[in-house]
Amino acid sequence: MKTIQVNTGRPYRIQIGSGLLDQAPALIAQAYGDRRPRLAVITDDTVDQFYGDHLTALLERAGYPVCKFVFPHGEQSKNLQTVHAVYGFLSENGITRTDVVVALGGGVVGALAGFAAATWLRSVDFIQIPTTLLAQVDSSVGGKVAVDLAHGKNLAGAFYQPRLVLMDPDTLDTLPLPVFMDGMAEVVKYGCIWDEDFFHFLAGRPSRQALMADIEHILYTCCDIKRKVVMEDELDTGLRMILNFGHTLGHAYELAGHYVEWTHGQAVAAGMCAAARLGARLGTPPEVPEQIEAALSALGLPTRISCSKSDYAAAVGLDKKGAGADITLILLDQMGHASPHKLPKAELLKRLEALQ
Ligand code: NAD
Ligand code: GLY
Repeated sequence: MKTIQVNTGRPYRIQIGSGLLDQAPALIAQAYGDRRPRLAVITDDTVDQFYGDHLTALLERAGYPVCKFVFPHGEQSKNLQTVHAVYGFLSENGITRTDVVVALGGGVVGALAGFAAATWLRSVDFIQIPTTLLAQVDSSVGGKVAVDLAHGKNLAGAFYQPRLVLMDPDTLDTLPLPVFMDGMAEVVKYGCIWDEDFFHFLAGRPSRQALMADIEHILYTCCDIKRKVVMEDELDTGLRMILNFGHTLGHAYELAGHYVEWTHGQAVAAGMCAAARLGARLGTPPEVPEQIEAALSALGLPTRISCSKSDYAAAVGLDKKGAGADITLILLDQMGHASPHKLPKAELLKRLEALQ
């Protein structure tokens, strides 16, 4: 088992290990000692089928009072209506400030359960048990919790760190291939922005099987990079912005596909390629875009997505009155090192059009 200590305002541990789900009761006991808080497990219907009853039975056997809330899977559930239903569930089950919310699932479950935990009784502890690759390498670490509003994604949220993160790579075995590869876009991102050797390590493993053979190392490397970034900039006012490499343009592609044609990971993959190509005129070494495209296309991820000028404009905020004239775009100075570049939005749009 590998352990990462994250020393944010509320410090916590990330534990990574094959078969670790079965050790959840013992690892939770390490955090709470002899006390047996009530555990409110929140999950979605798909994850519940695979792991819900197994986890609750293990926890009950270890002496924890457990209750479980299951909601329909998918981004469309990540809203205040579901949060309201969760509040009802927490109330009916008498969850007090000394009890604990357990988020079992992908990024949607983690974001929603974390938001409920941050706000229920002005905050109760929460434990992340991420079950998608994206959630294990990104969303379960760093404390961004949020739900979507009709006005946009992730608009109601908080920075609220978990008390513990438990990740069992064996849970990735039940993931559909496209969901696994979605997470790989974020994994490759860490190599691009922080660690050149890790990028080449990933580029040498262009299949799910090859990646799963080294999955603990991959999870550890990504979480350790995120730990360093988040410890320096917990509230996302500086360094943390580099985690958005590929995301601004990825947002344009998600918009272009009306959020159905392209998944988040596919859009980010194409967004990283576009940012690298664009960067090649602003200091990114010329071989870098090709390296990124080769690594991502070997994983079956798209490297180019066509996008209208108006979707690009909406993604960079040029369509809104009162929005600032400049945008900060994350570009690569070299493979393994990213930094923010401020550009006038109008200039960015011209450069993007020239790339199409
Ligand atoms: P998700 O939670 O919707 O999971 C994808 C699908 O996989 C779902 O249908 C889910 O039921 C299923 N699933 C989950 N685990 C499974 C397993 N082990 N076996 C089989 N099926 C499983 O999506 P996601 O990609 O994990 O997360 C996306 C969400 O994360 C978005 O809402 C995004 O905004 C958020 N996010 C947050 C952060 C952050 O820093 N907080 C970062 C990135 C993304
Ligand atoms: N996923 C980006 C962040 O945590 O800041």
